[in-house]
Amino acid sequence: MDLIDKRVVLTGGASGIGAAVLRRLADKGARCVHVADQNQAALSALISKLSPQCDIQGATLDVTDREALTNWFNAADAAMGGIDIVINNAGIMSGPVEFPETPIAAMMKVIDVNLIAMMLGTRLAVELMHARGIEGVVINTASVAAFNAMPADPAYAASKAGIVNFTQSCAPLAQSHGVRVVAICPGVTDTAIVPHDAAWLKPALASVQFLTPDDIVDAMVRVIGESELTASYVRVDNQRL
Ligand SMILES: NC(=O)c1ccc[n+]([C@@H]2O[C@H](COP(=O)([O-])OP(=O)(O)OC[C@H]3O[C@@H](n4cnc5c(N)ncnc54)[C@H](O)[C@@H]3O)[C@@H](O)[C@H]2O)c1
Repeated sequence: MDLIDKRVVLTGGASGIGAAVLRRLADKGARCVHVADQNQAALSALISKLSPQCDIQGATLDVTDREALTNWFNAADAAMGGIDIVINNAGIMSGPVEFPETPIAAMMKVIDVNLIAMMLGTRLAVELMHARGIEGVVINTASVAAFNAMPADPAYAASKAGIVNFTQSCAPLAQSHGVRVVAICPGVTDTAIVPHDAAWLKPALASVQFLTPDDIVDAMVRVIGESELTASYVRVDNQRL
């Protein structure tokens, strides 16, 4: 499967990795993209610069609003006559306060945005694709934090470990529903989510080379293209300096 003529749903598309995904989809001939982000200004500014050949429908949406997320998926499916690719990508960290001082509300929000919304997005994607007999792909943006201890933000690491296990548990859906569900696990990537000035991150940032958002998009495009890919997650690791 390539990107040409595809109908895509994307969350967290206003910035960083999601913005790079949106640019690539527009450049490589996707037919239509329904993209949501809570940052309306950034999303509108980005869409206004992209190729008019691709029909891009932006929505201001908080992915933790389950009713709004469900309605948005259903509306995207109806408007496009089906969905080929879903990329559940919106994510946050709990910072800037480090664990164990992190407010409980911030930890809950991380789980809600990073894990619960991805589980709901995956479920909606699989149901909608299966109902139309579409052999689609769902990509969930996890992190290498899923596999590493992250003492400053364990809620973030736990949310990403949860995505990887949830996605692995969805692997049989390829057989039963014809929908591949794959997690992408980026290393440290140069985007707004990275607390560049945090003392706890400085040693790690000094020892690795940042990935770019396009490095992560390259991995996503490979996953979309390789219909035989059976791995339930794909790591994109940093090079050591
Ligand atoms: N940058 C990294 O080093 C890195 C590493 C591993 C994984 N990731 C993951 O990549 C994904 C994209 O992050 P990024 O690095 O591009 O950061 P980013 O901050 O540039 O982009 C995240 C986007 O998600 C949106 N978003 C956040 N909460 C939302 C909500 N409740 N509803 C709707 N939109 C919301 C933000 O507005 C933003 O546009 C995240 O899931 C993140 O955890 C990033």
